[in-house]
Amino acid sequence: MNRVIIILALLLAAAFTGSAFAAEDAKWVEKLEIIKKARAIYEENCAACHGFDGNSVLPEAPNFAKGERLDKKEEELLKTIKEGKGELMPPWKDVINEDEMKSMILYARAVTGDKLFEEICLECHSQSIPPLNSKTPSNDKLKDLTEPINICSKTNIDDEEMEVEEIAGVVRFVRALKREK
Ligand code: HEC
Ligand code: HEC
Repeated sequence: MNRVIIILALLLAAAFTGSAFAAEDAKWVEKLEIIKKARAIYEENCAACHGFDGNSVLPEAPNFAKGERLDKKEEELLKTIKEGKGELMPPWKDVINEDEMKSMILYARAVTGDKLFEEICLECHSQSIPPLNSKTPSNDKLKDLTEPINICSKTNIDDEEMEVEEIAGVVRFVRALKREK
C-alpha cells in the first residue's frame, strides 16, 4: 500500500516538473515571436537614434547596449515611449499601439544580442533554452568581462569567433527574454 502511494507521489511530481518546463518553453517561443516583430518596428522608428545594436547614435540617447535606463520600472519606460521626453525623444502613442510599445521595452533590453542569437544560437534554441550558468556575471558586471566565457556547455562558444562584447550582448538577450512579464 505504502509503496503504491510513494510511486503515485513520484509520478505526480514528475508530471508537475514536466509541465513547469513545458510552460517555460512556451514562454520562450512566444518571446522569440515578439522579438521578431519588435525588431522591424525598432529598426524603422528607433534605430536612427538608439542604434541598430543598441549603441546610441545620438549622444543624448541612452545606450541600450550598456543597459542604460533599462532597469527603470516598466511603467516609467512605457510612459516615456508613449509621451516622449525632453527635446529629442519623440512620443510614439500615435504611431504604434500599446502592445507594440511594450514590445519595444523587451526589444531595447534584448537588442544587442538579437542578431547574434539568431545567427549562432537559434538553430538549437528556437524551442527552449535552459537557465544561464550560475557563474555568468550580472548585467552590471558584463562590462568588466575581459575574456570570453562559455555560456553554453554544449558548444565551444568561447573558442569561436565571439568577442567579449558579443557574449555580453547574447547574455543580455537571454536575460531579457527570460524576465517575467
Ligand atoms: C530622434 C531621436 C530618437 C528617436 C527616433 C527615439 N528616441 Fe528614445 N530617446 C531619445 C533621447 C534623446 C532620449 C533621452 C531623453 C531624456 O531623458 O531626456 C530617449 C530615451 C528613451 C528611453 C528611456 C526612457 C526613460 O524613461 O528614461 C527609451 C526606453 C526610449 N528612448 C525608447 C525609444 C523607442 C522604443 C523608440 C522608437 C519607437 C525611440 N526611443 C525613438 C531619442 C530618440
Ligand atoms: C549545436 C546546438 C547548440 C548551439 C548552436 C547553441 N546551443 Fe546552447 N545548448 C545546446 C544544448 C543541446 C544544451 C543542453 C540543454 C538543452 O538540451 O537545451 C544547451 C545548453 C545551453 C544553456 C544552459 C547552460 C549550459 O551551459 O548548458 C545555455 C544558457 C545556452 N545553451 C545558451 C546558448 C547560447 C546563448 C548560444 C548561442 C551563442 C547557444 N546556446 C548555442 C545546444 C546548442
